[in-house]
Amino acid sequence: MASGVARVERGGDDDERDDSDARATATATTPMAATMEADAAAAVERLTSRIDALRVALRARDDRYEAEIAPGGRSCKAAIESDPEWRAEYEELKRLEREAAGSPRDGCCAFYVSRKRRFCISRARDGGTMCTLHKPFEGVDAVTPSVVEAVLEREAWRRVVVTPAADGSNGADGASSSNSAARRRKTNVNRRMKRMTNPLAVQFQTPKVLDDAYWSRAYQGEHLSAPLLVDVGTAKGGFIKALASDCAEDCTTAKSGVVYNLLGVEIFDILVDAANAWVKENASTLKRRAHFVGCNANVSLTALNMPNVRAICIQFPDPWSNKPNRRVVTPKFVDDLAAILPSGGEIYCCSDVRALAEEMYDVVSQNKHFVLDERTYERVGEMPDKPNLEPVPEFDAAHQYKWIKNTHVRTDNEDDEDKDKDVPRRWLNANPYAAYTERDIVCEGKWRPVYRCAMIRI
Ligand SMILES: C[S@@+](CC[C@H](N)C(=O)[O-])C[C@H]1O[C@@H](n2cnc3c(N)ncnc32)[C@H](O)[C@@H]1O
Repeated sequence: MASGVARVERGGDDDERDDSDARATATATTPMAATMEADAAAAVERLTSRIDALRVALRARDDRYEAEIAPGGRSCKAAIESDPEWRAEYEELKRLEREAAGSPRDGCCAFYVSRKRRFCISRARDGGTMCTLHKPFEGVDAVTPSVVEAVLEREAWRRVVVTPAADGSNGADGASSSNSAARRRKTNVNRRMKRMTNPLAVQFQTPKVLDDAYWSRAYQGEHLSAPLLVDVGTAKGGFIKALASDCAEDCTTAKSGVVYNLLGVEIFDILVDAANAWVKENASTLKRRAHFVGCNANVSLTALNMPNVRAICIQFPDPWSNKPNRRVVTPKFVDDLAAILPSGGEIYCCSDVRALAEEMYDVVSQNKHFVLDERTYERVGEMPDKPNLEPVPEFDAAHQYKWIKNTHVRTDNEDDEDKDKDVPRRWLNANPYAAYTERDIVCEGKWRPVYRCAMIRI
């Protein structure tokens, strides 16, 4: 601004004078800029030396406490709280450390992690200012330790790790889907997800048939009155769990009052058992009815006879394979979706592997029964052409594959190249159900953009 002022004062825009103008401008602004710089440096210096002094003082208090007041013990929060001077110094240090951290960088989660004296390093969730894990703090003015404690306490029950029931039961039908692989299966649900189950294996080729009595048990008889939201390839069920608990109201608000029954479909039985055990354990506090079923969605979708299906989500499928014959979203699968969804039924797909997201987008939009869900695009907003994310190193194998195109899928308008250029794919700015999956959180941590699309059954 200062250089602009100097330029206007001198007047004239003669090209030949540009160089000397620039030099003159620089000279004219230097004293002011230098003063400002010196002031800022002095302020930083004062801040750092006060922080250093407070740290020395607090260390001395710790030592005194451990030597004189509680020999053999360690200083703790309660000790600090009980001494007004100690507490004042501690709070001043925390306040100054926060000040020294400055403000979060562009696109970064705005949650300040007091213990680490810096902002959370995840990217802000799509459509928000903090990452998904810190979302409860969005809009909270002062994130004091007591606010943090209150929020974490409120959320703690959702993070309970549940081990699968010893008898392998998975809820409504009282027995897990039986096959020899299930009997030999591994039990560590928390290990990293990778090539665990091959959907093409022979034991996954028989459709799972369920009936009305099953659904009635699963949803306590409320299976016909409420619309059903199905999450295909739900893994540990994070999305369904979020929708049944802390995201329940946000989702209902986002969907103009719709209260869904929730269903997670997953091919890996052990995850289904654990998720159903979680539902059972938290039944008294869940805000929505939730259930999980183990099956190969590509084989069983219509045989499941799911009641009242209104929304299907397919989020981050196929991360481990670039083989076209192992995709979840195929033209046949979309035909099945068309068969089970009524007019107005919704499909939501997303992936952080752009090639895969584009393929899903094309497969669904090329099915004559589906069109882009314009109302959802309007409500949620669209991702900018170039997401405002810094380039990150590629961590996952899925991002290093050379993706092989599924030959059943045409690239949009491929027989009309010019038209193709005119109709770029459109991506949503955020999850339309105002919830998140485990993979959403991973993507925030890795600063990966997520490509999301929504289609509707005509
Ligand atoms: C990368 S995980 C994504 C999990 C979750 N949707 C998320 O976003 O965090 C993909 C999941 O889809 C499951 N899956 C793959 N093919 C499937 C199929 N044909 N039927 C049902 N589940 C399938 C896998 O077992 C795995 O748990």
